[in-house]
Amino acid sequence: MRLAICPGSFDPVTNGHLDVIQRAARLFDKVVVLVAVNADKHGVFCAEERCDMLRRATAHLTNVEVASYDGLLADYARERHAAAIVKGLRAMSDFEYEFQMALTNRKLNDGVETVFLTTSTEYMYLSSSLVKEVARLGGDISEFVPPCVMNDILNKIERNEKNDR
Ligand code: PNS
Repeated sequence: MRLAICPGSFDPVTNGHLDVIQRAARLFDKVVVLVAVNADKHGVFCAEERCDMLRRATAHLTNVEVASYDGLLADYARERHAAAIVKGLRAMSDFEYEFQMALTNRKLNDGVETVFLTTSTEYMYLSSSLVKEVARLGGDISEFVPPCVMNDILNKIERNEKNDR
């Protein structure tokens, strides 16, 4: 069984993420969507909220599992005997950082290959940060995120805004 890991912050999941996950699910027998928990980098959503949104957004994909991990991706890949780490590439600006991570992960675990999927053109501009900013400023995010998670995002941003006032 060939297992792939789709790692990320997913703060929150966007349609661009979902596109990459769906395409990875067609290429591999099993895909683990891994929410990387970084103690130094606090997102808007906690790990459980991110996982919960991802589980609902990927409920139609029978070979996709969602998990979170607070260690090294290379170690998780070894534990799960993963064949590949799958990442989406939107533009050349993503490349340098992704290339650096891919080389580091190979150094830490040479049993796993990083595979890049070029983003679908309709999602080239999309990022979690952009979604949060548009939502904060009252814009329409319905084209940016899976419908089943839209209200979670709006409610959370609204609650944060109220608390900041
Ligand atoms: O959504 P992002 O910011 O592109 O995801 C980056 C992520 C989570 C894939 C990366 O930071 C990561 O792999 N974190 C896990 C900890 C780790 O292994 N760090 C070393 C990476 S070379």
